[in-house]
Amino acid sequence: MPFVPYALTRPFLFGLDPEQAHDLTLGSIAKLQNTPAQCLWQQTRVCAPATVAGLKFPNRVGLAAGLDKNGRCIDGLGAMGFGFIEVGTVTPLGQPGNPKPRMFRLPSKEALINRLGFNNEGLDSFLRNVQQAHSFRRAGGVVGLNIGKNAATPIERAVDDYLICLVGVYPHADYITVNISSPNTKNLRALQSDEALDALLSALSARKAELAQQHGKAVPMFVKIAPDLDEVQVGVIAATLRKNQIDGVIATNTTIERSTVQGLQHADEAGGLSGAPVFEASNRVIAKLRAALGADYPIIGVGGVMSGADARAKIEAGANLVQIYTGLIYKGPELVTEAARALANRR
Ligand SMILES: Cc1cc2nc3c(=O)[nH]c(=O)nc-3n(C[C@H](O)[C@H](O)[C@H](O)COP(=O)(O)O)c2cc1C
Repeated sequence: MPFVPYALTRPFLFGLDPEQAHDLTLGSIAKLQNTPAQCLWQQTRVCAPATVAGLKFPNRVGLAAGLDKNGRCIDGLGAMGFGFIEVGTVTPLGQPGNPKPRMFRLPSKEALINRLGFNNEGLDSFLRNVQQAHSFRRAGGVVGLNIGKNAATPIERAVDDYLICLVGVYPHADYITVNISSPNTKNLRALQSDEALDALLSALSARKAELAQQHGKAVPMFVKIAPDLDEVQVGVIAATLRKNQIDGVIATNTTIERSTVQGLQHADEAGGLSGAPVFEASNRVIAKLRAALGADYPIIGVGGVMSGADARAKIEAGANLVQIYTGLIYKGPELVTEAARALANRR
């Protein structure tokens, strides 16, 4: 069976409601992964290894969190040629997320707006799925597990949810991402502010040290931040990451800014804007983080990578690795290979 160019499938998928297209695609990947039909989207992985935060990545291009919230397509998505796959955000309990419709395309800007609100099946189901993945990991792929809080948990108890998830995912993760930057869970982003962040990260760091002892392995923990932060806020976050010995940072999540899409259909929908319009804002945060954290601190750059040149620009802004979400929706699996090639032989 031959590889099917995305140019052939995209018109069909874009004819569907965005969430329907998503569900159909993930459902098909879940069913067909690790079978001969995987050839339909499989690509030879670009081999350009890089070591970041002590982990050996087969190449520098990863799938960003949120596409596979339940971790059920790690092998199938990995077959697109990614060096790493981040799944989640998972919450302790399953939850339905916000009412539909909650995902919108802005095609003229190669953008999406979503307000899914961490719809997922919960930690137990997530862990079962993650443990079933085998081929991607066997081939050296790196798997990141992204954790969050339930909508019903009051923000003052957020740390409890993150701890439950940390303990659950620890034995199964190559790295863990603490997501405090989704705009779709009420008050979540308040966790990025000074004292709240310090309290959350010190609790997670202390538990992580115990888990390292208990499991006899050190799993790096990253924090994922928003693009809507000024220089002072980024500086405070950087200092708090250092203080709590956090292993790396993922920049950035979606934006609540709408200045770049004003007047377009769906531009006023509530939620997080992703894709090309978040590219510059995310690069600015990456550059500020690099300046604040020094040359050796692990930074994963994400936001608006739609081409190999964009991936290179993320590295030039200061990232060590890049992730893609919206670019995959607009450009298809071919973007993974294009970006990985563009980053081969870079820092
Ligand atoms: C539909 C959708 C759902 C997302 N869900 C999550 C999520 O659950 N957790 C998370 O950390 N980021 C989530 N994100 C953010 C992406 O991982 C990424 O940080 C952001 O979209 C910017 O990258 P992009 O422009 O390549 O999409 C989501 C993004 C989209 C478009």
